[in-house]
Amino acid sequence: MKGIVLAGGLGTRLLPLTKITNKHLLPVYNKPMIYYPIETLVKAGIFEILVVTGGNHAGDFLKLLGNGKEFGLKHLNYTYQEGEGGIAEALGLAEHFADNESVVVILGDNIVEEDITEMVKNFEDQKVGSKILLKEVTNPERFGVAEIKNGHIVKIVEKPDVPTSHYVVTGIYMYDSEVFNMIKQLKPSQRGELEITDVNNIYIEKGKMTFDILKGWWTDAGTFESLFKANCLIADKVRNGEQ
Ligand code: DAU
Repeated sequence: MKGIVLAGGLGTRLLPLTKITNKHLLPVYNKPMIYYPIETLVKAGIFEILVVTGGNHAGDFLKLLGNGKEFGLKHLNYTYQEGEGGIAEALGLAEHFADNESVVVILGDNIVEEDITEMVKNFEDQKVGSKILLKEVTNPERFGVAEIKNGHIVKIVEKPDVPTSHYVVTGIYMYDSEVFNMIKQLKPSQRGELEITDVNNIYIEKGKMTFDILKGWWTDAGTFESLFKANCLIADKVRNGEQ
């Protein structure tokens, strides 16, 4: 299984912090943000990793991460997303890297407490289709929200005004190689992006989507509030000697 970290986009919600650097290079307590999703993949036994970056500061990723020695990697792959065409567009750039294999995708601003090894293993056993990781939160309207009936996800709605559940889609997705054909068929959403939620809804319609629920804490770090929260969560872990 190969791993993809999506770290494109312009991070405009964090301006002016992102005026002279990329969002994913900002500190989360004692490490740059991008370290956490890379560590999550490596912990899950994924050593072939592609970082999709973008914006004006893409060269800084290479300076920071090099060939991934700090993570125990021999090599890191990079690609570049022009503009901010959406998470699904960024993933589409990974087709050549995936080379018909299944992939674990993680958003570059997502930080997760848990080791996801078991969930990746479950997806490997599943062999085809897709698996997403959900988390129960108190503010679902900020995320993709999963409507669950009889133990299955029937629909995901992106940032709904009236959420139908408290289970949100975290930025950890597992896909078979069909995902790249699906992305080619997507049309831009109202905000002009190719939406990962549209991809997930195609898998759901085909009956090929499973999910696991994260038990530990999870957060994104793409807003001032969530970036601050991520810092506090990691600080606690460091103080407890866990990180
Ligand atoms: O964090 C989980 C949420 O992430 C999900 O619940 C939502 O369903 C999903 O759409 C996404 O929502 P956000 O609005 O938080 O996504 P955002 O635009 O902040 O992008 C998150 C990461 O995705 C970003 O840190 C880097 C990557 N990305 C995003 C865009 C728009 C790219 O690589 N390229 C892009 O063009």
